[in-house]
Amino acid sequence: MIDVLLGLQWGDEGKGKIVDFLAEGYDIIARFQGGPNAGHTLYVNGKKVVLRTIPSGVFHKHCLNLIGNGVVIDPVSLMQEIEQLIPMQPDVLSRLFIAHRAHLILPTHRALDAASEAAKGEEKIGSTLKGIGPAYMDKTGRNGLRFGDILSKDFRKKYDKLAQKHIQMLRQYDHKIEWEQWEEPFFEACEYLSKLQTVNSEYWLDKQLKQGKRVLAEGAQGSMLDIDYGTYPFVTSSNTIAAGVCNGLGVAPSRIGEVYGITKAYCTRVGGGPFPTELDDETGEELRRVGNEFGAVTGRSRRCGWLDLVALKYTVMLSGVTKLIITKADVLDNFKEIKVAVAYNADGIETNELPYDICDVSIEPVYKKFDGWDKPISSCSSFNDTPEVFRNYCDYIEKYLETKIGYISNGTGRDQLMAIF
Ligand code: IMP
Ligand code: MG
Repeated sequence: MIDVLLGLQWGDEGKGKIVDFLAEGYDIIARFQGGPNAGHTLYVNGKKVVLRTIPSGVFHKHCLNLIGNGVVIDPVSLMQEIEQLIPMQPDVLSRLFIAHRAHLILPTHRALDAASEAAKGEEKIGSTLKGIGPAYMDKTGRNGLRFGDILSKDFRKKYDKLAQKHIQMLRQYDHKIEWEQWEEPFFEACEYLSKLQTVNSEYWLDKQLKQGKRVLAEGAQGSMLDIDYGTYPFVTSSNTIAAGVCNGLGVAPSRIGEVYGITKAYCTRVGGGPFPTELDDETGEELRRVGNEFGAVTGRSRRCGWLDLVALKYTVMLSGVTKLIITKADVLDNFKEIKVAVAYNADGIETNELPYDICDVSIEPVYKKFDGWDKPISSCSSFNDTPEVFRNYCDYIEKYLETKIGYISNGTGRDQLMAIF
Protein backbone atom coordinates (compact mmCIF):
# COMPACT_ATOMS: atom_id res chain seq x y z
CA MET A 1 0.00 0.00 0.00
CA ILE A 2 0.99 3.56 -0.51
CA ASP A 3 0.12 6.10 2.16
CA VAL A 4 -0.18 9.78 1.41
CA LEU A 5 0.71 12.88 3.34
CA LEU A 6 -0.46 16.24 2.10
CA GLY A 7 -1.22 19.80 3.14
CA LEU A 8 -4.88 20.77 3.58
CA GLN A 9 -4.45 24.54 3.43
CA TRP A 10 -2.37 26.91 1.26
CA GLY A 11 0.93 25.13 1.87
CA ASP A 12 3.47 25.58 4.64
CA GLU A 13 1.54 23.35 7.03
CA GLY A 14 4.78 21.85 8.33
CA LYS A 15 4.91 18.80 6.06
CA GLY A 16 8.70 18.48 6.16
CA LYS A 17 8.86 17.80 9.88
CA ILE A 18 6.00 15.29 9.76
CA VAL A 19 7.37 13.33 6.79
CA ASP A 20 10.74 13.24 8.50
CA PHE A 21 9.02 11.76 11.57
CA LEU A 22 6.80 9.31 9.69
CA ALA A 23 9.71 8.22 7.47
CA GLU A 24 10.78 5.90 10.29
CA GLY A 25 7.92 3.59 9.27
CA TYR A 26 8.45 3.69 5.49
CA ASP A 27 10.96 2.26 3.02
CA ILE A 28 10.36 4.80 0.26
CA ILE A 29 9.34 8.47 0.28
CA ALA A 30 8.06 9.78 -3.06
CA ARG A 31 7.29 13.28 -4.27
CA PHE A 32 4.41 13.28 -6.78
CA GLN A 33 3.90 16.91 -7.82
CA GLY A 34 5.24 20.43 -7.57
CA GLY A 35 8.87 21.36 -7.84
CA PRO A 36 11.29 23.84 -6.33
CA ASN A 37 8.40 26.13 -5.41
CA ALA A 38 8.19 23.86 -2.36
CA GLY A 39 10.25 24.50 0.74
CA HIS A 40 10.06 21.69 3.28
CA THR A 41 11.81 22.74 6.44
CA LEU A 42 13.46 20.17 8.69
CA TYR A 43 15.65 20.50 11.75
CA VAL A 44 18.40 17.90 11.71
CA ASN A 45 20.70 17.85 14.74
CA GLY A 46 19.56 21.37 15.49
CA LYS A 47 20.43 22.55 11.99
CA LYS A 48 17.73 23.98 9.73
CA VAL A 49 17.56 22.37 6.30
CA VAL A 50 15.13 23.36 3.55
CA LEU A 51 14.30 20.69 0.97
CA ARG A 52 12.88 21.77 -2.37
CA THR A 53 12.67 18.85 -4.78
CA ILE A 54 14.21 16.01 -2.79
CA PRO A 55 11.78 14.01 -0.63
CA SER A 56 11.98 14.55 3.11
CA GLY A 57 13.01 10.93 3.77
CA VAL A 58 16.57 11.70 2.82
CA PHE A 59 17.77 11.94 6.41
CA HIS A 60 16.84 8.32 7.15
CA LYS A 61 19.48 5.82 6.09
CA HIS A 62 16.92 3.12 5.35
CA CYS A 63 14.73 5.27 3.09
CA LEU A 64 14.87 5.39 -0.68
CA ASN A 65 13.67 8.67 -2.19
CA LEU A 66 11.80 8.99 -5.45
CA ILE A 67 11.16 12.14 -7.44
CA GLY A 68 8.07 11.08 -9.37
CA ASN A 69 6.90 11.88 -12.89
CA GLY A 70 4.41 14.48 -11.64
CA VAL A 71 7.24 16.68 -10.38
CA VAL A 72 8.86 19.44 -12.44
CA ILE A 73 12.61 19.55 -11.98
CA ASP A 74 14.91 22.55 -12.18
CA PRO A 75 18.30 20.90 -12.78
CA VAL A 76 20.30 23.74 -11.21
CA SER A 77 18.19 23.81 -8.10
CA LEU A 78 18.26 20.01 -7.74
CA MET A 79 22.03 19.87 -8.18
CA GLN A 80 22.53 22.55 -5.54
CA GLU A 81 20.24 20.71 -3.18
CA ILE A 82 22.18 17.48 -3.62
CA GLU A 83 25.52 19.25 -3.11
CA GLN A 84 24.21 20.81 0.08
CA LEU A 85 23.10 17.41 1.37
CA ILE A 86 26.23 15.38 0.55
CA PRO A 87 28.27 16.58 3.57
CA MET A 88 25.35 15.66 5.85
CA GLN A 89 24.28 12.48 4.04
CA PRO A 90 27.21 11.12 1.99
CA ASP A 91 25.06 8.29 0.62
CA VAL A 92 22.27 10.57 -0.64
CA LEU A 93 22.87 9.74 -4.32
CA SER A 94 22.63 5.99 -3.82
CA ARG A 95 19.18 6.48 -2.28
CA LEU A 96 17.81 8.94 -4.80
CA PHE A 97 15.77 7.89 -7.86
CA ILE A 98 14.31 10.16 -10.52
CA ALA A 99 11.42 9.38 -12.86
CA HIS A 100 12.26 9.56 -16.58
CA ARG A 101 8.88 11.13 -17.16
CA ALA A 102 9.34 14.09 -14.80
CA HIS A 103 9.40 17.34 -16.76
CA LEU A 104 12.25 19.83 -16.82
CA ILE A 105 12.15 23.50 -15.93
CA LEU A 106 14.22 25.41 -18.48
CA PRO A 107 15.83 28.81 -17.87
CA THR A 108 13.28 30.28 -20.28
CA HIS A 109 10.43 28.82 -18.18
CA ARG A 110 11.68 30.90 -15.29
CA ALA A 111 11.92 33.94 -17.54
CA LEU A 112 8.35 33.39 -18.76
CA ASP A 113 7.13 33.01 -15.18
CA ALA A 114 8.71 36.33 -14.22
CA ALA A 115 7.53 38.16 -17.35
CA SER A 116 3.98 36.86 -17.09
CA GLU A 117 3.70 37.73 -13.40
CA ALA A 118 5.04 41.23 -14.02
CA ALA A 119 2.45 41.69 -16.77
CA LYS A 120 -0.37 40.76 -14.40
CA GLY A 121 0.33 43.81 -12.24
CA GLU A 122 -2.18 44.10 -9.38
CA GLU A 123 -3.65 40.69 -10.19
CA LYS A 124 -0.41 38.81 -9.86
CA ILE A 125 -0.58 35.36 -8.33
CA GLY A 126 2.50 35.86 -6.18
CA SER A 127 4.23 32.94 -7.86
CA THR A 128 7.53 31.79 -6.40
CA LEU A 129 8.90 32.50 -9.93
CA LYS A 130 10.57 29.12 -10.17
CA GLY A 131 9.10 28.46 -13.62
CA ILE A 132 6.47 26.03 -12.33
CA GLY A 133 3.47 27.32 -14.30
CA PRO A 134 5.25 27.59 -17.68
CA ALA A 135 6.83 24.12 -17.25
CA TYR A 136 3.46 22.50 -16.56
CA MET A 137 1.96 24.46 -19.47
CA ASP A 138 4.51 22.90 -21.79
CA LYS A 139 3.75 19.49 -20.31
CA THR A 140 0.01 19.72 -21.03
CA GLY A 141 0.70 21.61 -24.26
CA ARG A 142 2.79 18.59 -25.33
CA ASN A 143 5.94 20.58 -25.88
CA GLY A 144 7.87 19.82 -22.70
CA LEU A 145 11.24 18.22 -22.13
CA ARG A 146 11.43 15.32 -19.73
CA PHE A 147 14.17 14.20 -17.41
CA GLY A 148 14.83 11.23 -19.68
CA ASP A 149 15.62 13.67 -22.50
CA ILE A 150 18.80 14.68 -20.68
CA LEU A 151 20.15 11.25 -21.59
CA SER A 152 19.20 11.58 -25.25
CA LYS A 153 21.91 12.47 -27.77
CA ASP A 154 19.72 15.16 -29.30
CA PHE A 155 19.08 16.84 -25.98
CA ARG A 156 20.63 20.11 -27.14
CA LYS A 157 18.51 20.11 -30.28
CA LYS A 158 15.32 19.47 -28.34
CA TYR A 159 16.27 22.17 -25.88
CA ASP A 160 16.97 24.73 -28.62
CA LYS A 161 13.63 24.05 -30.29
CA LEU A 162 11.70 24.71 -27.10
CA ALA A 163 13.85 27.65 -26.01
CA GLN A 164 13.29 29.29 -29.42
CA LYS A 165 9.56 29.01 -28.89
CA HIS A 166 9.93 30.64 -25.49
CA ILE A 167 12.08 33.43 -26.90
CA GLN A 168 9.25 34.27 -29.31
CA MET A 169 6.80 34.28 -26.43
CA LEU A 170 9.04 36.48 -24.29
CA ARG A 171 8.99 39.15 -27.03
CA GLN A 172 5.35 39.91 -26.30
CA TYR A 173 6.17 41.11 -22.80
CA ASP A 174 7.51 44.58 -21.95
CA HIS A 175 9.32 43.17 -18.98
CA LYS A 176 12.78 42.02 -20.07
CA ILE A 177 14.44 39.16 -18.20
CA GLU A 178 18.13 38.42 -18.61
CA TRP A 179 17.84 34.66 -18.67
CA GLU A 180 20.77 33.91 -21.01
CA GLN A 181 23.19 33.77 -18.07
CA TRP A 182 21.17 30.85 -16.67
CA GLU A 183 21.84 28.65 -19.69
CA GLU A 184 25.39 27.55 -18.95
CA PRO A 185 24.66 26.48 -15.35
CA PHE A 186 21.59 24.67 -16.71
CA PHE A 187 23.66 22.50 -19.04
CA GLU A 188 26.30 21.89 -16.39
CA ALA A 189 23.59 20.73 -14.00
CA CYS A 190 22.02 18.48 -16.65
CA GLU A 191 25.41 16.87 -17.19
CA TYR A 192 25.74 16.31 -13.43
CA LEU A 193 22.23 14.89 -13.12
CA SER A 194 22.65 12.57 -16.10
CA LYS A 195 24.78 10.37 -13.84
CA LEU A 196 22.03 9.86 -11.29
CA GLN A 197 19.69 6.87 -11.05
CA THR A 198 16.77 7.41 -13.40
CA VAL A 199 13.91 4.92 -13.40
CA ASN A 200 10.65 4.08 -15.09
CA SER A 201 9.04 4.93 -11.82
CA GLU A 202 5.66 3.29 -12.46
CA TYR A 203 7.38 -0.12 -12.89
CA TRP A 204 9.92 0.60 -10.21
CA LEU A 205 7.23 1.43 -7.64
CA ASP A 206 5.10 -1.52 -8.67
CA LYS A 207 8.01 -3.88 -8.01
CA GLN A 208 8.72 -2.28 -4.66
CA LEU A 209 5.08 -2.52 -3.62
CA LYS A 210 4.91 -6.18 -4.68
CA GLN A 211 7.90 -6.84 -2.45
CA GLY A 212 5.91 -5.43 0.45
CA LYS A 213 7.81 -2.14 0.67
CA ARG A 214 6.00 0.64 2.48
CA VAL A 215 5.71 3.84 0.48
CA LEU A 216 4.76 7.34 1.61
CA ALA A 217 3.78 9.92 -1.01
CA GLU A 218 4.82 13.39 0.12
CA GLY A 219 2.66 16.26 -1.11
CA ALA A 220 3.92 19.77 -1.72
CA GLN A 221 2.05 23.09 -1.55
CA GLY A 222 -1.49 22.60 -0.22
CA SER A 223 -4.96 21.48 -1.26
CA MET A 224 -6.28 25.03 -1.54
CA LEU A 225 -3.59 25.64 -4.19
CA ASP A 226 -4.75 22.67 -6.29
CA ILE A 227 -5.08 23.57 -9.98
CA ASP A 228 -8.65 22.18 -10.17
CA TYR A 229 -10.08 22.68 -6.70
CA GLY A 230 -8.05 25.52 -5.23
CA THR A 231 -8.84 29.23 -5.26
CA TYR A 232 -8.36 29.48 -9.03
CA PRO A 233 -6.60 31.35 -10.60
CA PHE A 234 -4.58 31.94 -7.43
CA VAL A 235 -3.25 28.41 -7.36
CA THR A 236 -0.21 26.41 -8.36
CA SER A 237 -0.15 24.35 -11.57
CA SER A 238 -0.41 20.80 -10.23
CA ASN A 239 -2.91 18.55 -8.47
CA THR A 240 -1.97 18.80 -4.83
CA ILE A 241 -4.83 16.58 -3.56
CA ALA A 242 -4.64 12.79 -3.13
CA ALA A 243 -5.75 12.20 -6.73
CA GLY A 244 -2.42 13.71 -7.80
CA VAL A 245 -0.62 10.71 -6.30
CA CYS A 246 -2.04 8.35 -8.93
CA ASN A 247 -1.04 10.60 -11.85
CA GLY A 248 2.17 11.77 -10.32
CA LEU A 249 3.58 8.36 -9.45
CA GLY A 250 1.73 5.98 -11.75
CA VAL A 251 -0.03 4.02 -9.01
CA ALA A 252 -3.64 2.84 -9.07
CA PRO A 253 -6.18 4.35 -6.65
CA SER A 254 -6.80 0.91 -5.12
CA ARG A 255 -3.27 0.96 -3.79
CA ILE A 256 -3.76 4.07 -1.69
CA GLY A 257 -4.02 3.39 2.03
CA GLU A 258 -3.88 5.96 4.79
CA VAL A 259 -4.22 9.63 3.82
CA TYR A 260 -2.65 11.96 6.36
CA GLY A 261 -3.89 15.54 6.04
CA ILE A 262 -1.87 18.28 7.68
CA THR A 263 -3.26 21.54 8.90
CA LYS A 264 -1.87 24.25 11.09
CA ALA A 265 -3.93 25.26 14.12
CA TYR A 266 -4.46 28.54 12.25
CA CYS A 267 -4.15 29.55 8.58
CA THR A 268 -1.50 31.14 6.42
CA ARG A 269 -1.19 32.01 2.80
CA VAL A 270 1.76 33.39 0.85
CA GLY A 271 1.14 35.26 -2.39
CA GLY A 272 -2.11 36.68 -3.70
CA GLY A 273 -5.64 35.34 -3.71
CA PRO A 274 -8.67 35.06 -1.46
CA PHE A 275 -8.24 34.18 2.20
CA PRO A 276 -11.57 34.42 4.06
CA THR A 277 -10.23 34.28 7.63
CA GLU A 278 -7.26 36.59 7.04
CA LEU A 279 -6.49 38.94 9.95
CA ASP A 280 -5.23 42.33 8.93
CA ASP A 281 -4.69 43.41 12.50
CA GLU A 282 -2.54 42.92 15.58
CA THR A 283 -3.76 39.37 16.06
CA GLY A 284 -2.60 38.50 12.55
CA GLU A 285 0.70 40.22 13.27
CA GLU A 286 1.06 38.22 16.47
CA LEU A 287 0.42 34.92 14.66
CA ARG A 288 3.09 35.85 12.12
CA ARG A 289 5.62 36.76 14.81
CA VAL A 290 5.04 33.78 17.11
CA GLY A 291 4.64 31.33 14.24
CA ASN A 292 7.66 32.78 12.42
CA GLU A 293 5.56 32.93 9.28
CA PHE A 294 8.06 33.88 6.61
CA GLY A 295 8.43 31.89 3.39
CA ALA A 296 11.07 29.14 3.33
CA VAL A 297 11.67 29.67 -0.40
CA THR A 298 11.04 33.36 -0.98
CA GLY A 299 11.41 34.85 2.52
CA ARG A 300 8.12 36.71 1.98
CA SER A 301 6.01 37.33 5.04
CA ARG A 302 2.97 35.07 5.11
CA ARG A 303 -0.58 36.31 5.51
CA CYS A 304 -2.11 34.92 8.71
CA GLY A 305 -5.60 34.23 10.00
CA TRP A 306 -7.81 31.92 12.04
CA LEU A 307 -8.40 28.27 11.26
CA ASP A 308 -10.99 27.88 8.51
CA LEU A 309 -13.04 24.73 9.06
CA VAL A 310 -15.18 25.35 5.97
CA ALA A 311 -12.14 25.18 3.72
CA LEU A 312 -10.68 22.35 5.77
CA LYS A 313 -13.78 20.20 5.53
CA TYR A 314 -13.70 20.70 1.78
CA THR A 315 -10.08 19.60 1.43
CA VAL A 316 -10.54 16.67 3.84
CA MET A 317 -13.37 15.55 1.56
CA LEU A 318 -11.38 16.00 -1.67
CA SER A 319 -8.55 13.76 -0.51
CA GLY A 320 -10.47 11.33 1.69
CA VAL A 321 -8.27 12.17 4.65
CA THR A 322 -8.18 9.31 7.16
CA LYS A 323 -6.01 11.00 9.81
CA LEU A 324 -5.54 14.63 10.65
CA ILE A 325 -2.28 16.08 11.82
CA ILE A 326 -2.38 19.47 13.50
CA THR A 327 0.82 21.47 13.52
CA LYS A 328 1.96 24.60 15.33
CA ALA A 329 -0.65 24.25 18.07
CA ASP A 330 1.87 25.87 20.44
CA VAL A 331 1.69 29.12 18.42
CA LEU A 332 -1.75 29.70 19.95
CA ASP A 333 -0.41 29.33 23.52
CA ASN A 334 -0.61 32.99 24.45
CA PHE A 335 -3.85 33.99 22.79
CA LYS A 336 -6.67 34.90 25.20
CA GLU A 337 -9.31 33.95 22.69
CA ILE A 338 -9.09 31.59 19.73
CA LYS A 339 -11.51 31.53 16.82
CA VAL A 340 -12.35 29.01 14.11
CA ALA A 341 -14.57 29.70 11.08
CA VAL A 342 -17.51 27.29 11.01
CA ALA A 343 -19.52 28.83 8.13
CA TYR A 344 -19.28 31.58 5.52
CA ASN A 345 -21.62 34.39 4.92
CA ALA A 346 -21.25 34.56 1.13
CA ASP A 347 -22.95 37.62 -0.36
CA GLY A 348 -25.46 37.46 2.50
CA ILE A 349 -26.16 33.72 2.34
CA GLU A 350 -24.81 31.47 5.07
CA THR A 351 -23.17 28.29 3.87
CA ASN A 352 -20.73 25.68 5.09
CA GLU A 353 -19.70 24.70 1.59
CA LEU A 354 -16.89 26.35 -0.28
CA PRO A 355 -18.46 28.51 -3.01
CA TYR A 356 -17.31 27.96 -6.60
CA ASP A 357 -15.67 31.34 -6.73
CA ILE A 358 -14.41 33.02 -3.63
CA CYS A 359 -12.45 35.65 -5.55
CA ASP A 360 -15.37 37.82 -6.61
CA VAL A 361 -17.77 37.04 -3.77
CA SER A 362 -17.63 38.84 -0.45
CA ILE A 363 -17.08 36.22 2.23
CA GLU A 364 -17.62 36.96 5.93
CA PRO A 365 -16.58 34.05 8.13
CA VAL A 366 -18.91 33.00 10.94
CA TYR A 367 -16.73 32.22 13.94
CA LYS A 368 -16.92 29.96 16.93
CA LYS A 369 -14.85 31.26 19.85
CA PHE A 370 -12.77 29.28 22.31
CA ASP A 371 -11.07 30.49 25.48
CA GLY A 372 -7.31 30.40 25.32
CA TRP A 373 -5.48 27.84 27.44
CA ASP A 374 -3.51 28.69 30.56
CA LYS A 375 -0.74 26.10 30.24
CA PRO A 376 1.62 26.15 27.24
CA ILE A 377 1.04 23.26 24.84
CA SER A 378 4.70 23.46 23.87
CA SER A 379 5.66 22.02 27.26
CA CYS A 380 3.23 19.08 27.08
CA SER A 381 4.66 15.66 26.34
CA SER A 382 1.38 13.86 25.72
CA PHE A 383 -2.14 14.72 24.68
CA ASN A 384 -3.49 13.73 28.10
CA ASP A 385 -1.13 16.25 29.59
CA THR A 386 -2.68 19.15 27.62
CA PRO A 387 -5.22 21.53 29.22
CA GLU A 388 -8.86 20.60 29.02
CA VAL A 389 -9.79 23.64 26.92
CA PHE A 390 -7.29 22.51 24.31
CA ARG A 391 -8.67 18.98 24.30
CA ASN A 392 -12.17 20.40 23.84
CA TYR A 393 -10.92 22.49 20.95
CA CYS A 394 -9.46 19.35 19.30
CA ASP A 395 -12.64 17.44 19.98
CA TYR A 396 -14.67 20.14 18.24
CA ILE A 397 -12.39 20.04 15.17
CA GLU A 398 -12.66 16.24 14.95
CA LYS A 399 -16.43 16.33 15.15
CA TYR A 400 -16.77 19.14 12.62
CA LEU A 401 -14.47 17.42 10.15
CA GLU A 402 -15.70 13.91 10.97
CA THR A 403 -12.08 12.85 10.96
CA LYS A 404 -9.78 11.73 13.77
CA ILE A 405 -6.67 13.62 14.75
CA GLY A 406 -3.61 11.34 14.71
CA TYR A 407 -0.87 13.69 15.82
CA ILE A 408 -0.42 17.18 17.18
CA SER A 409 2.86 18.99 16.66
CA ASN A 410 3.68 21.40 19.47
CA GLY A 411 7.06 22.83 18.52
CA THR A 412 9.82 22.66 15.91
CA GLY A 413 11.80 19.92 17.67
CA ARG A 414 11.63 16.37 16.31
CA ASP A 415 10.35 15.19 19.70
CA GLN A 416 7.61 17.83 19.96
CA LEU A 417 4.90 15.64 18.48
CA MET A 418 2.05 14.09 20.45
CA ALA A 419 0.37 10.94 19.11
CA ILE A 420 -3.33 10.44 19.81
CA PHE A 421 -4.68 6.91 19.59
P1 IMP B 1 3.91 28.89 -8.10
O1 IMP B 1 3.54 27.48 -7.80
O2 IMP B 1 5.33 29.20 -7.75
O3 IMP B 1 3.57 29.32 -9.48
O4 IMP B 1 3.05 29.83 -7.14
C1 IMP B 1 1.62 29.87 -7.22
C2 IMP B 1 1.04 30.22 -5.86
O5 IMP B 1 1.26 29.13 -4.97
C3 IMP B 1 1.65 31.43 -5.18
O6 IMP B 1 0.66 32.08 -4.40
C4 IMP B 1 2.70 30.84 -4.25
O7 IMP B 1 2.99 31.67 -3.17
C5 IMP B 1 2.01 29.56 -3.83
N1 IMP B 1 2.96 28.49 -3.51
C6 IMP B 1 3.68 27.75 -4.37
N2 IMP B 1 4.41 26.84 -3.71
C7 IMP B 1 4.14 27.01 -2.42
C8 IMP B 1 4.58 26.33 -1.24
O8 IMP B 1 5.36 25.36 -1.28
N3 IMP B 1 4.09 26.79 -0.06
C9 IMP B 1 3.18 27.80 -0.02
N4 IMP B 1 2.74 28.46 -1.08
C10 IMP B 1 3.22 28.05 -2.28
MG1 MG C 1 6.91 25.64 2.48
